[in-house]
Amino acid sequence: MIPSPSAPVLVARGVSHAFGTGALRRAVLRDVDLRVDPGEIVLVTGPSGAGKTTFLTLAGALRSLQAGSLRLWETELAGLAPSVQVALRRRIGFIFQDHNLFGALTARQNVRLAFAAGPAPADADTRIDTLLDALGLADHRDKRPRHLSTGQRQRVAIARALVHRPRLILADEPTAALDADTGAEVLALLRRTAAEAGAAVLMVTHDDRLFPAADRIVHLRDGRLVSDRSVRDTLAAARALLGVPDYAGIGPVALAALVGALQPRTFPAGAAIAAPELPAGTRWIVVAGSAEVRTAGGVVTQGPGAVFVSAPGSTARAHSELRLLALDPEAARRALAATPPVADQLASFLFRDAP
Ligand SMILES: Nc1ncnc2c1ncn2[C@@H]1O[C@H](COP(=O)(O)OP(=O)(O)O)[C@@H](O)[C@H]1O
Ligand SMILES: [Mg+2]
Repeated sequence: MIPSPSAPVLVARGVSHAFGTGALRRAVLRDVDLRVDPGEIVLVTGPSGAGKTTFLTLAGALRSLQAGSLRLWETELAGLAPSVQVALRRRIGFIFQDHNLFGALTARQNVRLAFAAGPAPADADTRIDTLLDALGLADHRDKRPRHLSTGQRQRVAIARALVHRPRLILADEPTAALDADTGAEVLALLRRTAAEAGAAVLMVTHDDRLFPAADRIVHLRDGRLVSDRSVRDTLAAARALLGVPDYAGIGPVALAALVGALQPRTFPAGAAIAAPELPAGTRWIVVAGSAEVRTAGGVVTQGPGAVFVSAPGSTARAHSELRLLALDPEAARRALAATPPVADQLASFLFRDAP
């Protein structure tokens, strides 16, 4: 069960889940595929009732899998013996909304519970105090939960989830009860944990301030995973689109709509870049690798950030393994038609209530 450092932390394949039986049976997860690698911060977004918490509890081996496959560090959770489940859970840090602190215990003692399952490391007390300090709780270590604010209790729960240095952190809206500064500190702490320990973070959140710090954002709707996007690639694609003359000067709402219409495609080295299902005039944004584009005017090599158009009489080939985002002209037209004109977008920004 010792994971190799580069093996994925979590791989879900075709995970479906339903609650209730007979006529009351309701599917809440449908055929979800997801992979999370060491060091990655993946945000899970989606409307209330989409199945986000259910997925997190399955991923944490807190709930039995009904259908599909879910592997943690290459160990299949389906049909796993309870004793192995318990061992796996010890490698996970849980930050859930009902923080389950023990009222009779102080902040420090609550954090120490993370070590209750086995012998505590020699430096347990130092680790506990360092974390509580980092979370702004230095003056509250010996207080019981009822003498702490909601946000402080949430931070104690975060300290408890991190103190045993988990390799996977499952967090359900961890910053919801925190003010902006504390939310940013919590995220910085999670990032450090991810970077230093190679831990992966899978976090449900509606807090869009966290988006830029994430590696990927996945969106669940009605139990389906409807998008899985790299934040860095998405930002790079947005910058590339702003460089296209047709889109120069479009507003942020329209830009976001265009980015939402992009479709990822990967081509192996040497492959012709062709997508028969996409019409002529499709724009291709290079995310990684390079493409050789041949037109009547000559041959050009296009690298990351470049945009080229598939048109009759031109051909394109992957130089090296190539990741592209495709913008179907019809999808782009629909996305732009559905967004208000720039003047209206700016008006809503200029005239909105001051915070
Ligand atoms: N233990 C449960 N028993 C029955 N239905 C549940 C249970 N937990 C969640 N649900 C239902 O499953 C759906 C998905 O819930 P949940 O995973 O909590 O969604 P989210 O976290 O995205 O808001 C909701 O309709 C919810 O009412
Ligand atoms: Mg939820």
